[in-house]
Amino acid sequence: MAPDIAAMKGRGEPIVALTAYHAHTSAIADRYCDFLLVGDSLGMVMHGFETTVPVPLELMIMHGRAVVRGAKRALVVVDMPFGSYEESPAVAFRNCARVMKETDCGAVKIEGGRRMAETIHYLVDRGIPVMSHIGLTPQSVNVIGGFKAQGRRQEQWAAIEEDARQVADAGAFAIVLEAITEPLAARITASIPIPTIGIGASRACDGQILVMEDMLGLSPRVPRFVKKFGKVGEVIEGAIREYAKDVRSRAFPTPEHTYAMQGEGKALPERAGASPPRATKKPKNPSSK
Ligand code: KIV
Repeated sequence: MAPDIAAMKGRGEPIVALTAYHAHTSAIADRYCDFLLVGDSLGMVMHGFETTVPVPLELMIMHGRAVVRGAKRALVVVDMPFGSYEESPAVAFRNCARVMKETDCGAVKIEGGRRMAETIHYLVDRGIPVMSHIGLTPQSVNVIGGFKAQGRRQEQWAAIEEDARQVADAGAFAIVLEAITEPLAARITASIPIPTIGIGASRACDGQILVMEDMLGLSPRVPRFVKKFGKVGEVIEGAIREYAKDVRSRAFPTPEHTYAMQGEGKALPERAGASPPRATKKPKNPSSK
């Protein structure tokens, strides 16, 4: 739950987080992460939008449900999309409550510092745990003029530090710091009682988050702060290349992948290991799929 994440700062334990958008990757990440974020980056990563601005609330709810179904122990945080919380604290409450009821997630995340402090207070006071997000706030990309690092000039620090202080005072249980410099991240982390979760914000933060597809090596383009921990894109392409080759050469399917008539030849073998029941069940009617 959200207070468990907040308490990790007091113990000096690094907080590990990733984004997740589907049930199966959520189940894997759940074994290693303290929280999973159903980020609105799913609009860009999964649905091909140029920015996160077009993402609708319904999409967040649909992916949020899938991630909650996959996760057993990690806290699931769902991003509130652009336009669903900025208008007023009451509108924010209505939409955040809907997300929590319909997904069963443990917290929501909203972008914005000082300007969202009143809303954060209103939500927390009414039972909604809020993670804040400051520094580069991608939903404001049209105002900022691009996905640009923030606080690279010292005269910009005071405003960002004030954002952090106000959202912490308002009751946020953690803050995502996106694309800010290390000295600024260090100052914020040292000056507020809640954990800072960095994405492109240096090792000075209390925890780290990355977009899962970026760190897996699946996204075609990634920001410079991403370390690729895998080459999943290459693995997927290799498998699909082999499949296409085998279908074209008629090397697949073989009798091993084909149902035999009852009482004739070799039937499809039961799959070994812990396959889901769908994969191991014999079809009721051998002629159906
Ligand atoms: O939407 C998202 O993936 C995020 C992360 C960048 C923190 O907000």
